[in-house]
Amino acid sequence: MNAPDSPERPHRRIRSFVLREGRLTAAQERALSELWPAFGIDYSPTPIDLDTVFGRSADRLLEIGFGTGDALAAYASAHPDVDCIGAEVHRSGVGHLLLKAQAENLRNVKVICHDAVEVLERQLPAGSLTAIHIFFPDPWPKKRHHKRRLIQPALVDRLLRALKPGGELRLATDWQPYAEHMLAVLQTFPALKNLAGGNHYVDRHSERPITRFERRGQRLGHGVWDLAFRKESIG
Ligand SMILES: C[S@@+](CC[C@H](N)C(=O)[O-])C[C@H]1O[C@@H](n2cnc3c(N)ncnc32)[C@H](O)[C@@H]1O
Repeated sequence: MNAPDSPERPHRRIRSFVLREGRLTAAQERALSELWPAFGIDYSPTPIDLDTVFGRSADRLLEIGFGTGDALAAYASAHPDVDCIGAEVHRSGVGHLLLKAQAENLRNVKVICHDAVEVLERQLPAGSLTAIHIFFPDPWPKKRHHKRRLIQPALVDRLLRALKPGGELRLATDWQPYAEHMLAVLQTFPALKNLAGGNHYVDRHSERPITRFERRGQRLGHGVWDLAFRKESIG
């Protein structure tokens, strides 16, 4: 168990993805070059000033592994007062979100095309986020791949570092063993309060649209488990 103010766990690389760069559409390729200056944040291994990036001071959400970005775009559209940052490693998904951000004129969206683990460790200042969303992270069902799961104590340390006190962490998965694993890991952090109370899941968040990945799970007959935690100010 990790005390909230203890130094972070020694760094152990979490490699939660395998880059299979599928074909990008011509529109996505064009978006990556033409729309990047408006909506992209280049990865940097040093903390950035988010007030400068967004040109204002505001509440800020990070979505990790946004896929095609539909949930992030919907959230940004519904909350123009919240700055929304998406981190995704697959360029096709990044291109998809850039097109959507442009089409819907989502000036509160910025995209980082890089490993979110490093983004959290190095690029985002401590206490800079009011919310973090991680929807349908790769479940890595085989035991020998469990070390690739995003949700593990070393990452939760970093999520907690990035969140402001009172900030919320929302997750969803369609893989029951991963849902149970998430709950078990998150419950060990005294600084995190389960908003469902006890050892429970929350109801589906009304603002979480059904993503392409979730729809695929529904076709396969999978259930969905939503989790929500709040960072408490302790001490
Ligand atoms: C199963 S998909 C779910 C996508 C989306 N959230 C949805 O609900 O449709 C998981 C996504 O997480 C991304 N991902 C995995 N590890 C990541 C990391 N360390 N940094 C950024 N993106 C990551 C993958 O590229 C993939 O797009």
